[in-house]
Amino acid sequence: LEVYNQSIEDPLSFWSSIAEDFEWIKKWDTVLEHDWGAATTKWFNGAVTNITLNCLDRHVAEQPDKTAITWVPNSPDVAVQYITYKDLLDRVCQAANCFKELGVGKGDRVCLYMPMIPELAISVLACARIGAIHSVVFAGFSAQALADRIKDAEAKLIITSDGNFRGSKVIPVKEVVDTAIEMDCRSVEKVLVVKRTGSSMDWNDAIDVSWDDLVPKMDSFCSAEPRSSEDTLFILYTSGSTGKPKGVVHSCGGYMVYTAYSFKQVFQYKDDDVYWCTADIGWITGHSYIVYGPLLNSANTVMFEGVPTYPEAGRFWSICEHLKVNQFYTAPTAIRALQAFGDDYVNRYDLSNLKVLGTVGEPINEEAWEWYYRVVGQSKIPIVDTWWQTETGGIMISALAGITPLKPSYASLPLPGIEPCLVDENGTEITGNNVEGLLCVKSPWPSMIRTTYGDHARCKQVYFSDFPKKYFTGDGARRDENGYYRIIGRVDDVINVSGHRMGTAEIENAINSHPLVVESAVVGVPHSVKGQGVMAFVILLGSGQHETGVEVSIEETVVKAIGKIARPEKISIVSGLPKTRSGKIMRRLLRKIASGQNEDLGDISTLLNPDIIDEIKGK
Ligand code: WT7
Repeated sequence: LEVYNQSIEDPLSFWSSIAEDFEWIKKWDTVLEHDWGAATTKWFNGAVTNITLNCLDRHVAEQPDKTAITWVPNSPDVAVQYITYKDLLDRVCQAANCFKELGVGKGDRVCLYMPMIPELAISVLACARIGAIHSVVFAGFSAQALADRIKDAEAKLIITSDGNFRGSKVIPVKEVVDTAIEMDCRSVEKVLVVKRTGSSMDWNDAIDVSWDDLVPKMDSFCSAEPRSSEDTLFILYTSGSTGKPKGVVHSCGGYMVYTAYSFKQVFQYKDDDVYWCTADIGWITGHSYIVYGPLLNSANTVMFEGVPTYPEAGRFWSICEHLKVNQFYTAPTAIRALQAFGDDYVNRYDLSNLKVLGTVGEPINEEAWEWYYRVVGQSKIPIVDTWWQTETGGIMISALAGITPLKPSYASLPLPGIEPCLVDENGTEITGNNVEGLLCVKSPWPSMIRTTYGDHARCKQVYFSDFPKKYFTGDGARRDENGYYRIIGRVDDVINVSGHRMGTAEIENAINSHPLVVESAVVGVPHSVKGQGVMAFVILLGSGQHETGVEVSIEETVVKAIGKIARPEKISIVSGLPKTRSGKIMRRLLRKIASGQNEDLGDISTLLNPDIIDEIKGK
């Protein structure tokens, strides 16, 4: 508590003393320059470094043979790979030299569309090495979604693989890239392809190049490009409540300081521990807590190619036993899915090396929390429920393992240096405890979003304009009598399916592109494993009559536009949608109806078309 209070009273000395622990080519002129009105933030301005010096070279000098990445292939019959810090630096440098040879330089954007193979982590770091900006796109996204992201970032180089081993399936990957490029991706000059599955694929000599032919021949020395603290390290696309996904921009210096700091604090990582985060590098969790945070702390970070249920539902625990995992970090949706398979799958394995369990991505319900605590943790080890967002770059509210007393389903307290607050609809701060409100952050932190790529006005509007002098998270939260935070969920039109964030508008746009659809409205409904599921209300051309199978073809349209993760759980064909007199769809009503709360709908007399409610309820 004392540390926390000091960090808030004197944030500049707090953060500068943390930043002292890194290797800088040049130190900063100012710790913080910040303007809420303009939504501009500069941390450690004037400083120069390269994050890979801190992730790699620094550790290679001290412990070259320490394992950096422990890579676990999809198949349990294939050997685990232990990549040392020295090997990793060599391989990063070779990849970096290859990217340079392909014409990529400082500030150029490189899009990574890859499975969870070592080359993904290597490519991330190789971009950082030469000052190129990586934009990783989760390999579950469709060609259309990939094309949108390539175009927005004007990526020059795409890195991909032939295929992806996921459980018993082999999923094509390069094929998706080929389709995306045909969707008018003019910025793309080269596609660098890693061979993983040996699947056949089309090959275009004009742009396709083989990783396996080129990279191993490269020199394993590549000097680190000096980067200003405020230079862009990467772009990561995320969904908001409106329109197309936004490219969240993170900077080199502040992001480095905060991910390293938060990793160490939250997980209490000690030298020689084995740490495993089960996320995909395609999401922010993978960026911050598989790659950067752990490597900055010279950790041994596990990277898993496969899925939790292959070859059986004990796979996570079998890996934990085999690798003697000490810190294990996963998502509530995975916990609920595995809980459903029964305790035996867990009890079969020796999990006595576990010291910390973590969760992220969505609120964890009490039942899943208890199971995780009791069955996986044997009622002996702490659970850190970590609240944060793509935009925050790192964990903001969480217990510190073994230090903060636990309370199920509460993310608990802000990290030192982080100052959350609750406000009401008018922006008035709600003080005191035992209160609920909209979650904001009222002082800047090093890894906060810098801009939305190519559109600073949007960044300012979405995050900094609802409530002056605050960053608005889009979440609602409760603060209990001890000041512990419990995250309730999104208060905007964002839904969270299996910890994956999706904008209702984005899914609606996809549905509306179907030739038979006139209009649609999408809401999230409670789902026992996924947390939330997608429910769509759709108006078809003609008067309610429709061909059989139209629901399926609408689903396919969504999968094509976004990816399988956005597939609606249920589609309800209706003749109208509840609207206000100004024509706005009342999603609040649809949410209630969709989750079976048909009673308490409140006053619906102000609707433009109150009669529609009975029809929708009847579906
Ligand atoms: C949204 C951010 C940050 C990594 C993964 C998701 C929800 C995240 C928690 C948690 C309750 C959580 C919030 C947030 N969320 N962690 N521990 N408890 N809710 O990143 O895709 O940017 O989504 O995920 O609603 O706003 P993201």
